[in-house]
Amino acid sequence: MTTRDATELFSEWALKNRDEGMESGHANSVNEMLNIAIPMLVGPFSAIDVGCGNGWVCRKLQSNDNCSKVVGIDGSIEMITKAKQKGGEFHLAKLPEWAPSQKFDLIHSMEFLYYLKDPLEMLKIFFNEWLNDKGVLIAGVDHYLENVESHDWPESLNVHMTTLSEEQWRQGMVDAGFTDVETRRVGLKLGFVGTLAISGRKP
Ligand SMILES: C[S@@+](CC[C@H](N)C(=O)[O-])C[C@H]1O[C@@H](n2cnc3c(N)ncnc32)[C@H](O)[C@@H]1O
Repeated sequence: MTTRDATELFSEWALKNRDEGMESGHANSVNEMLNIAIPMLVGPFSAIDVGCGNGWVCRKLQSNDNCSKVVGIDGSIEMITKAKQKGGEFHLAKLPEWAPSQKFDLIHSMEFLYYLKDPLEMLKIFFNEWLNDKGVLIAGVDHYLENVESHDWPESLNVHMTTLSEEQWRQGMVDAGFTDVETRRVGLKLGFVGTLAISGRKP
């Protein structure tokens, strides 16, 4: 059986208001991720949230006094429709094909990268084409090799997921050119090994 496109699945979820469950379910991990990434930036910063869902992280970033601009992108039409209704700059954009017309100081993504066939190639594109010098990337993934509980997600959702280990993510960041590369577990709670948060800086 062929897998379905992740963006179609998430459009269905948006129509059933399951974006709200992701917003509350991912909040602890994202708060920790932003607390890691924002102090790595100096002065006012522009930001993009990749795979932004209903846009909740963009609205959170907008409330930061140092955030001069924030853009959200997602390949799901229903997610982007919801995001736009709540206000802000959002684009319907399918990766890896889409490219922004400007570079950013912060690239954030939560629970998005592993839906791509080649997420490590996307890290290189982020580094070379999307990020300003001294910019920071922070990405969170809950589907990864060490999270055994997540191994059946591709089959149960019938969606492609690329399963990488913590070390493969770390090496992928280094190979893309990032410095100060760190991988950490965030959003830890009973019965959950944590979101793997991957961060690094463009020199
Ligand atoms: C698990 S949801 C996470 C949404 C949001 N980051 C959050 O934490 O609530 C993954 C999102 O990635 C989007 N997505 C998946 N594959 C994509 C692709 N190839 N291009 C753009 N967006 C994609 C989906 O439409 C979905 O909204």
